[in-house]
Amino acid sequence: MAEHRWNPGELLKLSGGYWQTCVLHAGVKLDVFTTIGADRLTGKAVAGRIDADSRGLGMLLNALTAMELLVKTDDHFQNTTFAQEFLSTSSPRYIGHIILHHQQLMESWAHLDQGVKTGKPVRTRASRSDDDWRENFLMGMFNMAMQLAPKLVTHIDLSDRRHLLDLGGGPGTYAIHFCRRYPRLKATVYDLPTTRPFAEKTIDKFGLTDRITFKDINFIEEGIQETFDAAWLSHILHGESPENCRKIINKAVAALESGGMIVIHEFILNNTMDGPLFPTLFSLNMLLGTEGGQAYSERQLFDMLADAGASDIRRLPIDIPNDSGIVTGIR
Ligand SMILES: C[S@@+](CC[C@H](N)C(=O)[O-])C[C@H]1O[C@@H](n2cnc3c(N)ncnc32)[C@H](O)[C@@H]1O
Repeated sequence: MAEHRWNPGELLKLSGGYWQTCVLHAGVKLDVFTTIGADRLTGKAVAGRIDADSRGLGMLLNALTAMELLVKTDDHFQNTTFAQEFLSTSSPRYIGHIILHHQQLMESWAHLDQGVKTGKPVRTRASRSDDDWRENFLMGMFNMAMQLAPKLVTHIDLSDRRHLLDLGGGPGTYAIHFCRRYPRLKATVYDLPTTRPFAEKTIDKFGLTDRITFKDINFIEEGIQETFDAAWLSHILHGESPENCRKIINKAVAALESGGMIVIHEFILNNTMDGPLFPTLFSLNMLLGTEGGQAYSERQLFDMLADAGASDIRRLPIDIPNDSGIVTGIR
């Protein structure tokens, strides 16, 4: 591959790029986009509605205008069509949960050097007991999955399957999309008890309570008591050490009847572990937040599946944003 020709300007733009990131995070956290809604408001009026300092808020609104998320005319600010659609909580397409989740990760990323030196997480899992953190994490996953799931499910043929295990399924976004595509499919979402209210609300919102059930589990400590003919493991392995991943995959394969299909969706590294970029960054995100999590390579996932007794292991030839990929196997 040709060497990338960096220049100092480009590198410094990257180094200071987090300023724009922080402007976006502050805008979403202060909920300026919902506050402005369909109105045209002065900075002072917005400051009044969100109880912020009008000098500081004016600067933030000007920066958001420079970033083309707001439009300013005659000292009045309006949402762009995009901001109105994706950054206002009143829109069904709101993606602010994942943006707020990113904001919650910022502090740990600022101490990456420390994580690398110690090899230990910088943010603790205890932060997950915080209600706001959990909501932004789980509904952030919903935001992400809602962008991908409608397309992804068209690549995975479950037309002959009747009961899907969605292990670590979070709010159930993928189970929902698989059930919408395959009318004869039922699904069970297994996740931690604290996820239940988010999953039940989401499943209900899509009118699928008769076909999708939620069950509590700690997939490291407990076994899966039912059998299935398909298992979907989306973005759960990267949070765990290789040893725990083996445990989880073994349990999922053991919960399949003969001929059942296991499908793993993950950020997948090259076998040399040095690319693509997003999974290499995601590994660092897991270094900062978990005891042993990381992104895995295709070879590592294939080996884990083979060791769990799966056969006909393959990677589906599809391009998914963020370099995530799909690996399947048959029991
Ligand atoms: C990154 S989210 C993925 C959610 C969903 N599968 C998706 O792709 O959108 C990881 C999920 O695993 C769940 N989880 C983490 N550790 C778990 C455990 N020990 N037992 C059960 N679920 C767990 C979390 O609650 C969360 O819903």
